[in-house]
Amino acid sequence: MKPKIAVLGSINMDLVFKTPRMPTPGETLMGESFHQIHGGKGANQAVAAARMGAMVDFIACIGDDDFGSRSLKALNDEGIQTQHIRVVKSCATGVAGILLDQHGENSIILAPGANAKLNITDVEAARLTIKSSQVLVCQLETPIDSVSKAIHLAHHAGVAVILNPAPMQKLDDGLLASIDYLILNETEIEQLTGITVKESTEALVAAQQLQSRGVGIVIITLGAHGVFVADKLENYALPAYQVEVVDTTGAGDTFVGSFAVGIAQGMPLRDACDLAQRAAALAVTQLGAQTSIPHRASVERHFR
Ligand code: RIB
Ligand code: NA
Repeated sequence: MKPKIAVLGSINMDLVFKTPRMPTPGETLMGESFHQIHGGKGANQAVAAARMGAMVDFIACIGDDDFGSRSLKALNDEGIQTQHIRVVKSCATGVAGILLDQHGENSIILAPGANAKLNITDVEAARLTIKSSQVLVCQLETPIDSVSKAIHLAHHAGVAVILNPAPMQKLDDGLLASIDYLILNETEIEQLTGITVKESTEALVAAQQLQSRGVGIVIITLGAHGVFVADKLENYALPAYQVEVVDTTGAGDTFVGSFAVGIAQGMPLRDACDLAQRAAALAVTQLGAQTSIPHRASVERHFR
């Protein structure tokens, strides 16, 4: 049977400009190409989980515009359950302006649009869906109150909670204590703990600080340097798979969505991390967010 995963989060249309370098303030720079690609951290994680083999219910908001209807169609085409996606009247769908340079580095600016309208009533409407899932996955491109509500609902129902706190918002200890898996990168862990993480020693100190505040397992994603995993009983670093970097956009989301499926399938933590790392490595080799997320079969063919 397919594992059942609920995702609550954002939907964006990514407007991607490929550029030889980043423009400086006041400068007009000729770019190389332009692409409209489906994105948004919530949607990317939902798509990753679906492509990895899960039954995914997605709780989100779109505007009543062209980007919204195209995003909804794309999610339906993935087989994702979209009955908890609300169309907000007279509102724009979320948009991300992305500059992508030659080295695959990006800069992103968000206009949240309908993502900012996801409210507690939306979460309550999805209560049964959340409670009947094995895992709930959230990020922070939607209002923190709604995210907290969903997390508390899931936690009390015994549903495993994964939070990817991106972009970082203030997290209180009550919320942290309801998180089974906190997955974040070096920037986010520094924002959350004040600790600059360059090596495993600092990673462990930062993770233990969060665990003393109630978080379960902390997973720090370090890009080309792999991941650092702090379980309650043991901690370890896993190296990254080496690939040619085309565009890192969506790689972190691919990690989170794939990891969720591993956990929902009852994989040991290390194996779930490995599945997530393979999928994320493949995502780095392709342009865009949802265009780059691999299917399970492809992940299993690679890195043998
Ligand atoms: O994590 C990548 C995503 O962040 C992009 O798809 C963009 O929409 C932003 O939300
Ligand atoms: Na990508």
